[in-house]
Amino acid sequence: MSSIAVRWPDGHTTQETVGSDWLQAAAKAGVAIPTGCLGGSCGACEIELNGKVVRACISTVPPSKSGQLSVDFATDPHW
Ligand code: FES
Repeated sequence: MSSIAVRWPDGHTTQETVGSDWLQAAAKAGVAIPTGCLGGSCGACEIELNGKVVRACISTVPPSKSGQLSVDFATDPHW
């Protein structure tokens, strides 16, 4: 298992295991990814990984050539 440096929207960085669940990784990092259906259809959980939009609830931490991933929320949460 390899790990990768993940930079979260709040600016801090953690080491995450490649292949782990995004929602679990985020929870461990103290980052709340908004969720809805948890089944890949609503898009509430969309995040941007190095600028590419993925749905966190159906995605896992991918390997990255640079060894670093940057996570941003795809849509600004409106609370
Ligand atoms: S929570 Fe609905 S697509 Fe992920």
